[in-house]
Amino acid sequence: MAEVKIGILGAGGIARVHASNLTKDERVEIVGVADIVPERAASLANEVGKAKPVQHLEELFELGVDAVYVTTPNTLHVEPVLKCLDHNIHVFSEKPMATTLAEAKQIREHAKRSKAIYNLGMNRRFASVYKRVKELIASGELTPYLAHIKMNRGELLNPAWTADPEVTGGFIYETPVHLIDLCRYLFGEVETVRCVAKQNLSEKELDTFAIMLTFTSGTIANFVTYAHAGWSFPFESIEVYGKYTTVTTQELEKVMVASGLNQPIQIEDFYQLTTDVKWGYVEEDRRFIDAIIDGTEPPVPVEDAYRSAELIEAIYESAKKGKEIALNEKR
Ligand SMILES: NC(=O)c1ccc[n+]([C@@H]2O[C@H](COP(=O)([O-])OP(=O)(O)OC[C@H]3O[C@@H](n4cnc5c(N)ncnc54)[C@H](O)[C@@H]3O)[C@@H](O)[C@H]2O)c1
Repeated sequence: MAEVKIGILGAGGIARVHASNLTKDERVEIVGVADIVPERAASLANEVGKAKPVQHLEELFELGVDAVYVTTPNTLHVEPVLKCLDHNIHVFSEKPMATTLAEAKQIREHAKRSKAIYNLGMNRRFASVYKRVKELIASGELTPYLAHIKMNRGELLNPAWTADPEVTGGFIYETPVHLIDLCRYLFGEVETVRCVAKQNLSEKELDTFAIMLTFTSGTIANFVTYAHAGWSFPFESIEVYGKYTTVTTQELEKVMVASGLNQPIQIEDFYQLTTDVKWGYVEEDRRFIDAIIDGTEPPVPVEDAYRSAELIEAIYESAKKGKEIALNEKR
């Protein structure tokens, strides 16, 4: 008998990634898969074994789930997350937490009242390359004075909804949200945000961003992200500069550490790992189940999720008002 009964809401691409991990965890049973398109629910339910295909969240509740994975499109996370929390059912929400700060605040309030765990899917924190960078900072080998971050994953052509801010919540809520969150994870809380953004090719939204962040830790970071760069390798990279030290990542594949003058560069290459491990999905799913069973800290708890939502709102506010935003003054 499995210890944790899981339901999945939204049987698309990322649901399959989580379902594949969860079916390998003997503590877990996926008992139901819900999707507004019945064939999609049936198809994923069939892939995971004994799960029942249904259409709505409430039907997952009727199956007696302990936890729900919310893997619907971006602007459809808030309502099911709130319902889960209000029913004291643990919830793993895919990114973004919400696409407005008011909704993120609502989730934080409901999570505080609930007996259930809220977790946000921020797999980059558990990706091999970024875990290595985090270790270098934590061990003191790298003191991050300055960082340059690039996130050009996408082209906003396929699938078509990625170009529709009504569905995505805005370009930053799509893939850049991952590295926005990672910045906080690596460098600590943000003090100020300055953003210059333009609308170049998109018909409906800002698509070109240069963001400058200062952190209470003293780090300064420059973050660039452009919606139509295409998928040219590396889609994402970070460069972090310390005392005679430069740490550079290439995509989710490689970390290069130059740790002194006249020193060889150490390269760690994660190419051979499977994507689900290398991208952090296996670890985030395992940690979520650990949190439910053992009471350990969820991989990305609600306050952490909220702070990233707050940062994204400040980025858009700075772009629109053309001024620096001080985050501490807002809290
Ligand atoms: N962490 C990551 O690396 C990562 C990767 C991909 C997607 N995501 C996020 O996961 C979410 C899903 O993305 P995807 O690529 O799997 O999308 P998708 O379009 O492949 O799947 C979404 C599914 O949700 C279903 N759906 C829509 N509205 C619904 C509703 N009201 N009730 C039930 N089902 C509903 C759709 O029919 C579809 O099957 C998005 O928020 C996306 O940003 C995260």
